[in-house]
Amino acid sequence: MSSFRLDGKTALVTGASQGIGEAIARRLAAQGARVVLAARSVDKLEALAGSLTQEGGQAAVLALDLSASEAVADRLGELPEEFAAIDILVNNAGITADNLLVRMSLEDWDRVLRTNLTGTFAVTKALARGMMRRKYGRIISISSVVGLMGNAGQANYAAAKAGLIGFSKSLAKELASRNVTVNVVAPGFIQTAMTEALPESAKAELSTAIPLKRLGTGEDIAWAVGYLASDEASYVTGHVLNVSGGLYI
Ligand SMILES: NC(=O)c1ccc[n+]([C@@H]2O[C@H](COP(=O)([O-])OP(=O)(O)OC[C@H]3O[C@@H](n4cnc5c(N)ncnc54)[C@H](OP(=O)(O)O)[C@@H]3O)[C@@H](O)[C@H]2O)c1
Repeated sequence: MSSFRLDGKTALVTGASQGIGEAIARRLAAQGARVVLAARSVDKLEALAGSLTQEGGQAAVLALDLSASEAVADRLGELPEEFAAIDILVNNAGITADNLLVRMSLEDWDRVLRTNLTGTFAVTKALARGMMRRKYGRIISISSVVGLMGNAGQANYAAAKAGLIGFSKSLAKELASRNVTVNVVAPGFIQTAMTEALPESAKAELSTAIPLKRLGTGEDIAWAVGYLASDEASYVTGHVLNVSGGLYI
């Protein structure tokens, strides 16, 4: 039997419309999972679902705005029956709104916390119940090394990403008796639209600070998620796995 297979499992990936989330969705589908693709950009999700289906997988699209946390449970309740029992939840969606503290507006603070942390709370709460009842689950949240190290200009983002770690460790303790594992992946600097916005000089400076001397890829993160989602990781819970090329050592 080959390893790390997810046949018969259903996964939901938030922020699957591009970047790291898309890479994670592709990886979980390659390992055999049915995948629910969630984000706001339905067109992009439909294109990805089409591509996964063409490759022999099964995918469903869910329009979901994590910043509207009150509506999240209702949205998840609209999933078609064959995708409704989620075994693997990947909380990947996230935004930045960078500024130094003295220039940071309450709106930018609140927007980042609401999407990155409160949105994750809402999705996780809605799906944890089913996992507990079925006595199986994998919850994996995408934090950042910035949540561990801090970063000037990202107090809101770092607070949200550190919050995900405390949230996940608490859930790991609450849900262990129901065979639900809860882990975190903390990426370093990954080549996506989020880091594309940085000036070339900043990117070059960053690469030199990374012991492995390159920015990561979405696939680098997806392999880590693919492992934590698998049965082979059944004894791993409450863990923060840094995938940062050594940026965080
Ligand atoms: N890139 C990096 O270097 C890096 C490093 C560490 C951690 N991370 C984390 O990794 C995750 C993915 O980052 P990325 O680089 O792939 O970013 P990205 O390319 O900007 O993608 C962000 C994803 O989140 C979704 N999203 C944003 N706001 C949303 C909302 N209100 N409701 C639902 N979905 C929403 C976006 O979809 P829609 O716009 O379609 O809704 C998109 O799919 C984030 O949590 C990020 O903080 C990234």
